[in-house]
Amino acid sequence: MAVSRTRTRTLHPDARRPDLDSTPTDATTTGDAPEAVAHLLEEALGHLHSAALRAAAELRLADHLAAGPRTPADLARAIDVDTSALHRLLRLLASRAVFREDGAGAFHLTPAAELLRTDVPGSLHPAVLLITDDMFLRSAAGMTGTVRTGEPAFPKAFGLPFFEHLETDAGARAMFDAGMAAFSGPQDAAIAAAYPFPADGTVVDVAGGRGGLLREVLLRHPGLTGILFDQAPALREPLLDTPDLTGRWRAEPGDFFASVPSGGDILLLKHVLADWNDEDCVRILRSCRQSLAPGGRVLVIDPVLPPGNDPHPGKSLDLQMMTALGGRSRGPVDLDTLFARADLRLTRVLPTPNFTSIVEAVAA
Ligand SMILES: C[S@@+](CC[C@H](N)C(=O)[O-])C[C@H]1O[C@@H](n2cnc3c(N)ncnc32)[C@H](O)[C@@H]1O
Repeated sequence: MAVSRTRTRTLHPDARRPDLDSTPTDATTTGDAPEAVAHLLEEALGHLHSAALRAAAELRLADHLAAGPRTPADLARAIDVDTSALHRLLRLLASRAVFREDGAGAFHLTPAAELLRTDVPGSLHPAVLLITDDMFLRSAAGMTGTVRTGEPAFPKAFGLPFFEHLETDAGARAMFDAGMAAFSGPQDAAIAAAYPFPADGTVVDVAGGRGGLLREVLLRHPGLTGILFDQAPALREPLLDTPDLTGRWRAEPGDFFASVPSGGDILLLKHVLADWNDEDCVRILRSCRQSLAPGGRVLVIDPVLPPGNDPHPGKSLDLQMMTALGGRSRGPVDLDTLFARADLRLTRVLPTPNFTSIVEAVAA
């Protein structure tokens, strides 16, 4: 097929895109720019990378390769699937550095595939199932409509806004909470280390999900206590529920549009504001401002997009927020505008080793 014959660059996920500035702009036929042809067609086929990853996650292929490499025939027998189809699935994923085929035709785990195992610390298996879920696929399919109107596609596809839909579907809710916890896991310790938390006081993890970040903060700072605040269903399996943190935290269900627990010295908002449009963010920030202890600080932790053309996970997440939730990634200037409307002011921006930044605000 033309795509593979004309492909002249590696399509490994870490690869940089071709330098578009050097692509001839006057190419009028496909023969003039084979690399551009291959590039565009590969981009158009990108949904299959995601679908293949989902199939691998659903079939738990990484778990079945954990003990060592296997041929497609051997693996297909073990999990009762079609050998040829499995081979083709593995072949595509191996071309993306998820699995690797050796000279004898056996497939191995790669570092990325290790994270698809369900039984390893830091497994991203639940995150992959969330990110590739039909809720996001159908929202993304409505992207043209979203670009026309500025409105998310999710409510049209599912009948309700995203979080209201989760209230009607306990399975989707549990999958969301597990997926978010897995997605957030690799970031949490680094965020807890990147910010100079005070030695004592109360940290409120506002819409904290299963509380992975609050857990890391409390473990690092034995003088702090915590409140995990979220919608009631999100609080069912908190990651703080371990003997090492007994007596240092409590869970509180609620609605951040109404209020958040009062008296917090530090309020965490991680992967929260990016879910919402500006008006809703201002409502959430006003609740935070009202509850803040004197001298308290609000920490907004979200991807902050760098300028320029380079790939950044936040750019894809931004479109996921746009199509599913009506939210967006914001930079410090956007956030400062929202802070001002909630009687807060931006004090500093701290980078973290992952793709999020910590944007600190205090009472204005
Ligand atoms: C994207 S998740 C982020 C969870 C967590 N902070 C993290 O970083 O993994 C957004 C969270 O907002 C919560 N949420 C949505 N609407 C809410 C509301 N009205 N009041 C309180 N929490 C809400 C959801 O239940 C969910 O746990």
